[in-house]
Amino acid sequence: MRILSGLQPSGRLHIGNYFGMMQAAIHLQEEGDAYYFIADYHSLTSIHDGKLLRSHVRDLAIDFLACGLDPAKCVFFRQSDVPEHCELSWVLSTVTPMGLLERCHSYKDKIANGIKPSHGLFAYPVLMAADILIYDADVVPVGRDQKQHVEVTRDIAIKMNETFGEGLLKLPTPRIREDTAVVPGLDGQKMSKSYHNTIQLFEEPAALKKKIMGIKTDSTPVEAPKAVEGSSILALYKLVASPADYDRMVQDHLNGGVGYGDFKKRLLQATSDFFAPFHEKRAAITADPAYVDRVLAEGAEKARAVARKTLARVREAVGLG
Ligand code: ADP
Ligand code: TRP
Repeated sequence: MRILSGLQPSGRLHIGNYFGMMQAAIHLQEEGDAYYFIADYHSLTSIHDGKLLRSHVRDLAIDFLACGLDPAKCVFFRQSDVPEHCELSWVLSTVTPMGLLERCHSYKDKIANGIKPSHGLFAYPVLMAADILIYDADVVPVGRDQKQHVEVTRDIAIKMNETFGEGLLKLPTPRIREDTAVVPGLDGQKMSKSYHNTIQLFEEPAALKKKIMGIKTDSTPVEAPKAVEGSSILALYKLVASPADYDRMVQDHLNGGVGYGDFKKRLLQATSDFFAPFHEKRAAITADPAYVDRVLAEGAEKARAVARKTLARVREAVGLG
């Protein structure tokens, strides 16, 4: 089984990214032939500052490795080290119906969030299709908001196969973990960097405390039972606490007698404990800058060998070169 996913280096990672995509990707490296990449071509649709993009790429590489991505078990690379993605994207774009892209939610959402409309932003699902199809991926672990893009990828692959020959490109399947499909933010909406409601993956202890203790709650008195449905504290606690501790917090909500301040303290402790090993690993990786360069260079070489083969097959089928 070939597994593939990417993450945009467009800002500091938050725990929604971790539970929505990274954790599944890290588990899946045990189960198949995994390819994970830093989607820097994609981030060009929102970042036009070379220095900043380069520093985000480096931070993302360090963070992903600190969370448990193992270069001995997967191929980890920077997208722009494999320019074949862009060539395939162009070929795919010539069979992609405009209507397919016009139906994508992410373009409208991003514009609503202040990103400038550009051809690149509109065409981004085609580049994402190329990212996936160039590795003949079977499974694509992503958060729910990326599901539509994997479906678009399937549609584009079907069009290519109908046009240039059955079996030319493999149809991928999205893998969405339903239990963590939408991680809520501090305000109860979906956690997203665009909504300024995130808990960062590598939050400093003082900032973590301030954010968790500041989670919005209602004014139910300490003695009264508290709502379980729609509670961000409980939803976040479920991700980081043991099942027994989680059940205890649910019971304490139902029975009353425990205040929100106490629940927040438990959430703070469990969050710190859960991420502590990642912080340690991150410090070790940061101390050896050449390590990250080496991992990305080796990853690029392996990824490029696969990408070149697929691209050669496509060029042959469509009549290029
Ligand atoms: P953001 O919404 O902060 O801009 P991205 O769109 O860069 O995040 O998402 C990167 C990956 O993380 C995607 O696979 C996305 O589905 C996942 N993801 C982001 N936010 C969440 C969330 N709140 N819950 C679950 N998954 C998420
Ligand atoms: N579009 C994805 C995001 O914003 C990142 C991405 C780019 C991706 N190419 C991909 C994810 C291919 C999975 C497969 O999060």
